[in-house]
Parts: sequence; C-alpha cells; structure tokens
Amino acid sequence: MESGKNQEDKIREGQHLLPPEAQEVSQTILEDAKPFINLMMQYKCAIMEVETKLKVLDAEFSLAYNRNPFEDIRSRLKSPVSIHEKLVRKGYEVTVENIEAYLNDVAGIRVICSFPDDIYRLADMLSRQDDIAVVKRKDYIRNPKPNGYRSLHLILNVPIYLSNEKKYMRAEVQFRTIAMNFWASLEHKLKYKKDVENEESIVKELKNCADFIEALDYQMQGIRNRIDRSRDK
Ligand code: GTP
Ligand code: MG
Repeated sequence: MESGKNQEDKIREGQHLLPPEAQEVSQTILEDAKPFINLMMQYKCAIMEVETKLKVLDAEFSLAYNRNPFEDIRSRLKSPVSIHEKLVRKGYEVTVENIEAYLNDVAGIRVICSFPDDIYRLADMLSRQDDIAVVKRKDYIRNPKPNGYRSLHLILNVPIYLSNEKKYMRAEVQFRTIAMNFWASLEHKLKYKKDVENEESIVKELKNCADFIEALDYQMQGIRNRIDRSRDK
C-alpha cells in the first residue's frame, strides 16, 4: 500500500521535468488532489489501528491458548477508480465529502480464521473495545447470501490520533474461515468472467460448493472441540 505522502512526493519530484506552463497545471492538480490524498492517508491510519488491535489480541490469545485466533490479515485501501465507480453507481457526486459520508469500505481489513468459533470470539473481543463503535454488523455466516456467500462483516468507527485532532474513520472488517475465503475468492473471480454458458447451472453448482464448505467448516470445528475436551480431561 502506498501512502499519500509518497505519491505527492513522486509527482513533485517529476515536476521539474515538465515545461513551465505544464508545471503550473501540475501544481494545480496537486493542490486539488490534496484533500483526497489526505483522506486516503487517514483511512490508511485506520487500517493500521485495526491491524494493531488484532495483533494485540493475537499475541495475548496465543500465549493463553497456545494457538492463533487467525491465520492471516489482509488489508487494502480502495482504489480511486473503485471509489469513483461506487459513488457514481450509488448516485452520488464524486467529492471528498461524499467518500466519507457514503462509503464504508475505503479501509478494508480481511481476517482469515481457522474455525467459525474463532470468528465470533475475535469479532466480539474487537467490538467490545471501548474506543471502537460498531456501526453495522452483517452476519452472512448465520444468514448466508442466496448465492452461498458466507462471512461476518463489521463496519467500525475507529479513532485515529492526528497531530492536532482525534478523528473517527470508518473501516470494514470481514471475518472468514479459510474455507469461506476459498469459496469467496473463486466465486469473485468467476463473477468477472462474462459470457459464460449455463449461467443457471453454474450458480447452482457454486451454491452446492458453498454448502459443502459449510459442512466442512463445522466438521473441522467439531474435531477441534473434541480434541480440546479430551485435552481438558
Ligand atoms: P457493497 O456490496 O460493497 O456495495 O456494499 P453492501 O452494503 O452490499 O455490502 P455487502 O455486505 O453486501 O458486501 C460488502 C463486501 O462483501 C463486498 O465488497 C465483497 O467484498 C463481499 N461480498 C459480499 N457479497 C459477496 C458475494 O456474493 N461474493 C463475494 N465473493 N464477495 C461478496
Ligand atoms: Mg453487496
């Protein structure tokens, strides 16, 4: 992930290579872009805050239970093209104010867990922290989407501490098991392959795979519960 500062520096570094009149235009573009670059920096800070919180929980949990509550964290800042596309799709003017007002997923964090139970434990631990506010919670694990998509989504308000203010930023955290992520990643790739024949049968088969994966998740969870119980005895 690139920080706003770096991008700005890069543009500035290249400026002297332009003819004088273009330098002026470039300077104007840079000035206009400042609020956007600044906002992206703030979303990046929100990602860092959430990642740190998760890593702290991981450190504590792995010491107490001798295993990790998650396998992997993947974060991304929504690209300018996707931001533009989403605002237009939702019928909003593309402005820096509207990004903050209407988009929940500019800062995106995906947490991949081993077992469904770990998802709920981790999500609850994070939600209970007193500097975090849960704006929305969507449980697509208990209530999967009709196509079979499963994940737990939290939209959070996370404070970031800037030099002269404390600001709340929204971030979307998606919790998935390895199996849910496997399905969602492949389904996402397939969705973008247009002009496929047998659309209906493909949708049905994908739903079938989702059902298999769900069964697999709970079977693995069951095995772990049995192992935990026998260890406790
Ligand atoms: P957007 O879909 O982002 O406009 O917002 P929404 O309010 O519909 O949120 P939703 O919870 O449906 O989806 C948010 C994110 O979850 C998406 O951007 C995807 O990353 C993921 N997601 C939701 N549904 C699906 C799905 O059917 N398949 C896959 N692969 N991912 C999904
Ligand atoms: Mg959606």
